[in-house]
Amino acid sequence: MSETDKPTTTVGKATNIAWHEGEITREDRANVLGHKGCTLWLTGLSGSGKSTIGVALEKALIQRGILAYRLDGDNVRHGLNANLGFSPEDREENIRRVGEVAKLFADAGVVTISSFISPYQRDRDQVRRVHEESGAIFLEVFIDTPLEVCESRDPKGLYKKARAGEIKGFTGIDDPYEAPQRPEVHIETDNQSIEQSAMQLVEALRAHGVLSDS
Ligand code: ADX
Repeated sequence: MSETDKPTTTVGKATNIAWHEGEITREDRANVLGHKGCTLWLTGLSGSGKSTIGVALEKALIQRGILAYRLDGDNVRHGLNANLGFSPEDREENIRRVGEVAKLFADAGVVTISSFISPYQRDRDQVRRVHEESGAIFLEVFIDTPLEVCESRDPKGLYKKARAGEIKGFTGIDDPYEAPQRPEVHIETDNQSIEQSAMQLVEALRAHGVLSDS
């Protein structure tokens, strides 16, 4: 081995790869933006309000001069994850990929708002782990809306189809949803407006040091 050879390693299927360090830190980027990056991981049933609250929050943050960006289950499945369905394995891979993307956005300094059912605690814990390993802030947010309410809203008519047996393996009907046991933020959408939920998240960002108090 010559003196200039970098040690390489194997990660998954990738052999002979080496990490290439940059010269700019997360703090440098935070200084440019005036706030830290983080991932707000919104989890809950279909129709619980994850996307709606995410949209309201993104708008509220941008209006305050905070760089925010949404990663949304339905949207990401139009592109990056278009090759995944709703089997347990595909949901796991969906969350794994998005978790990695969210970590990169958070590292870039963006307040990243991810809205995915993400029904399995194990998969959400894995996303938390990859954030913690890289030193990125991760906040699990439980959008807690009872199944009956989600089903009565049924914004896409999917619960009706699932009840009729036209969709198999629909979360909450014939597929499980594991509610978070200790989320950093617990939002009960039954008791408050969309704007109040968005403000609850802005407060959580302050409490966790992502945004300064000013
Ligand atoms: S996740 O379970 O893998 O996290 P994700 O959030 O990406 O799900 O996508 C959920 C969206 O896919 C729902 O809002 C709904 O529009 C659609 N969908 C289609 N089939 C299913 C299904 N079997 N279970 C849940 N959502 C489904």
